[in-house]
Amino acid sequence: MKTKQATALAHPNIAFIKYWGDKDPDLRIPVNGSLSMNLDCLYSQTTVEFDPELESDGLLIGGRQPAENAIQRVNQFLDYVRHLADFSTFAKVTSENNFPTGSGIASSASGFAALGLAASFAAGLELDQRALSRLARRGSGSACRSVPGGFVQWLPGEDDESSYAISIAAHDHWELHDCIAVVSKEHKETGSTAGHLLAESSPLQNARIADAERRLDLCRHAILNRDFQAFAEIVELDSNLMHAVMLTSEPQLYYWQPATLDVMQSVIEWRADGIPVCFTIDAGPNVHVITTGDNSPAVMEKLNRIPGVLEVLIGQPGREARLINR
Ligand code: PMV
Repeated sequence: MKTKQATALAHPNIAFIKYWGDKDPDLRIPVNGSLSMNLDCLYSQTTVEFDPELESDGLLIGGRQPAENAIQRVNQFLDYVRHLADFSTFAKVTSENNFPTGSGIASSASGFAALGLAASFAAGLELDQRALSRLARRGSGSACRSVPGGFVQWLPGEDDESSYAISIAAHDHWELHDCIAVVSKEHKETGSTAGHLLAESSPLQNARIADAERRLDLCRHAILNRDFQAFAEIVELDSNLMHAVMLTSEPQLYYWQPATLDVMQSVIEWRADGIPVCFTIDAGPNVHVITTGDNSPAVMEKLNRIPGVLEVLIGQPGREARLINR
């Protein structure tokens, strides 16, 4: 095999209805369906080069070698691509993120969506969007949602075949902005892969799962009807339910910082004052503050004034994962 190379770009996504816990941790088949929006402006860009001269896979993220467990995770993922393509050549992978990694801004989602597309294309596999979503899911569950564009639903399924994500509305359907209040740039102690394994130790997880489909339906309708009030209520409820599970797991997972709570409290007050705004938080301390496009400059300004907010990033509805420099 000659050297084969491809570069892909994918956006992270913010989950409005969260994925927390797996039915099958190896295949990352989730216990419940989830719903998200891709975040334009933020991205991972990944180049994969299969080279017969290499004696092992190499990985650089932001010009540096990442921790051993990240290298292993990428090796395992590339092994699966090699298995699908039926060859054994090693690869050099270089990836860049234009946002802080590992702090609750889904860098693993954009990372594995871009890696899946670049690796499969360089390996000569022509995967359709559904197959690509299934492939990305094996690297990081939420990565399957960074493959299709715009507003995306992950159909949980029962097995590898049936668990993948689809777009429910294009990126230009609703101009929602995600103003990400960064309160810490530290790498989180417990990543989501370990967190998913703890979910069922919480006595609240079963109640969260039992009601998940109802929340997902409400959220999907709110998005399709561009109904911000209904959207805000269900998004905050879903985020709070996931964090309630995290806080009551054994051992407990506590991702928030004092500034996280300050932002949550402020957002609730701003909404009571009539601003269309709500919060949602992933497995990290940073707060995703969702608002409409016309309100985002004012919301960003308000967030920047809260002590403890280090910076505010912005994500608008983003497109699907795509190849570049073809
Ligand atoms: O895909 P993972 O393993 O990084 O899990 C993502 C978990 C959350 O971000 C907390 C929720 C979600 O649905 O994105």
